[in-house]
Order: sequence, then structure tokens, then C-alpha cells
Amino acid sequence: MILNMKVIFRTSFFCFAIFCFAIFCIALQSLFFSSCQRTQASDSQETGSLILGFSQIGAESAWRLRNTQSVQDAAAASGVQLIYFNAEQKQENQIRAIRSFIAYQVDVIAFVPIVSDGWMHVLEEAQFAGIPVLICDREINVSNENLYAGFIGTNSKQEGLIAADFLLQKFADDNQGSVRINRPIRIVELSGTEGSSVAINRGLGFRELLDEHNAGTEGPKFEIIYSASGDFLRSKGYELMSLILDSNIEDIDVVYSHNDSMTLGAIEAMKERGIRPGTDIVIVSIDAEQAAIEALRRGEINCVVECNPNQGTNILRLASLLAQGETIPRITYMYSRVFTEWDDLSLILPRGY
Ligand code: AHR
Repeated sequence: MILNMKVIFRTSFFCFAIFCFAIFCIALQSLFFSSCQRTQASDSQETGSLILGFSQIGAESAWRLRNTQSVQDAAAASGVQLIYFNAEQKQENQIRAIRSFIAYQVDVIAFVPIVSDGWMHVLEEAQFAGIPVLICDREINVSNENLYAGFIGTNSKQEGLIAADFLLQKFADDNQGSVRINRPIRIVELSGTEGSSVAINRGLGFRELLDEHNAGTEGPKFEIIYSASGDFLRSKGYELMSLILDSNIEDIDVVYSHNDSMTLGAIEAMKERGIRPGTDIVIVSIDAEQAAIEALRRGEINCVVECNPNQGTNILRLASLLAQGETIPRITYMYSRVFTEWDDLSLILPRGY
């Protein structure tokens, strides 16, 4: 009987010990796995195991080159794997690039839409694959805004408003040193790529303020006598301006150009014909490339509205939030300034583009 009790006691103790050991092993194992998961999660935030597919529209301007470099620099600095495609100004190339990002199962897709329409199908494909999309620099037009996570870039309507506001000041009756003309001020507009949000909105903002002004009683009226697209290219800015100056379009008071590349081309065409840019024709430009700031200093441009290309850090920050499943603001506008002939131009630091 005593022997039996001992056997029972030993057996129970042995079972209890095995049970405790098993619990200990399970606890140890779960501790090990949870610490692995935490390490992986922090790895993906800090050492950038994130894969970002980025489709850029091309290399049409010094501004665009800086914009690309800023994304590449920010990706390198944060250890993010960047898959970069240059679409060479073709929407179909961008759509192909986005499809390849989906096939590759990148964590986040970012792209600069060359035009605002025509993205719905490819964005539906990205949504179906569960890949968040960040729209950069230019805006898009889709009926379902849930197809993309957010936009980071330029406030192009505001840029147009600022350009028009400069002209209101420049031609204001009571503005010292202003140009006084007893007829409407005649404006030539060199517009950006047709169908791009920046060209549309830079035109809209500009017209909105001038129309509002024209409806009032103050100062001279403004009239856009000619508008054509120079595709954001210096060569086309030169060609367009040459064509205009050699045609029967007369009495041009102002050139409003949607970017510095086209402006610099237009200035060249004016100089070849003995016209003094900035004096004979008032010039308002957008971007604030170094070459445009130099022209502003020489008096060949009167106003440059900055469009900030240094979007890389913001793009990477937002992409990282998306990769962690966070929501981001619908719109993030870049900070921009305006440089005019009335400023102390010696204070402008090197632009870097
Ligand atoms: O989308 C931004 C515009 O595109 C810049 O003003 C222009 O220089 C660029 O090509």
C-alpha cells in the first residue's frame, strides 16, 4: 500500500514537472516570436525594408530633374528601396510602370501624373492588389477619390493667383513706377502641358483674379490675347515666342509663362528681335530655377513664383506612414514663395536647380 502511494506520488510529480516544463517552453517560444515580430516591424520603419515604386513623368525641365533627385536622395537617406521609372512624357508608360509595380508587389506606389484624366482603371488594379497610392506633384481627376491615399505637391491654382496679383500691383494706377496704359493690358500666356493639373490650375487661378479685378472699377483692365501650350519645354517656349513675335499679334504688354524653361526660351526669342524682356514686355514666370533668378536679377524677368520641387522628404514620410497602414492627409501642399523685382534679390540663396 505504502509502495503504491509512493509510485502514485512520483508519477504525479513527474507529470506535473512535465506540464510545467511544457508551459515554460510555450511561454519562451511566444516571447521569442513576439520579439522577432517587433524587431521586424522596427526594421521596416528604421532601416527601410519598404519598397516604393515611383513613376516620374520625364526630364522636361531643370525643375523636374531636381524633383527626381530629391525623391532619390530621400529614398537613399531613409534606406528605402526605390524602383524608379522615367515615363518620358507618355501616360501609357506611366500606366505600364504602375502595373509592373503591382506585379512586383511593392509596398507603396507613388507617381507624378503627367495629365489629370485617365487613371481610374490602373488605380482600381492597385486598390484590388491592396497597394496604397500616393499622388505626387500634379493632381488627378477621378470620380472615386478613395482610389488613392493622398496628394503631395504644388498648389498650382495659388501660383496662378500670385502671378495675377503681381500684375495687379505692377499696373496699379497708384503704384509708383508702374506702367500706365490707356487700354487693356495685353497678355500672352505660355501654358504648360495640355491636360496637366498644373497647366489647368495655373490658368484658372490667373484668370480668376484678373476676372474679378476686371469686374471692378479700379486700375486698367487685363486681356489674355493669346494662349498656347509650350509643353513646359524651353525649345517650345522659344518656338512659340518666335512665332508670336513674327506674327501680326501686336502690343504685347505681358508674357505669363507657366514655367521657367519656357520663359528662358521666350526671352531668347525676344532678345533676338531687339525686344528688352522685363522692360518692353513684363514677364511673370513660375518655378524659381537658378537661371530664372539670375534673369530676375538682370531685370529680364519681373516676377517668379516659386514652385518647390524638393518634395522627396515628404513623399518618403507619407509613403512610410502608408506602409504602416496609417492614413495620411488628403492634401499636403509644399511651402512656396514669390520673388519680385521689388525685393532685395541679394538675399536669395542658391536654388539648387
Ligand atoms: O508639375 C510641375 C511643373 O512641371 C513645373 O512647373 C515644371 O517646370 C515641370 O516641368
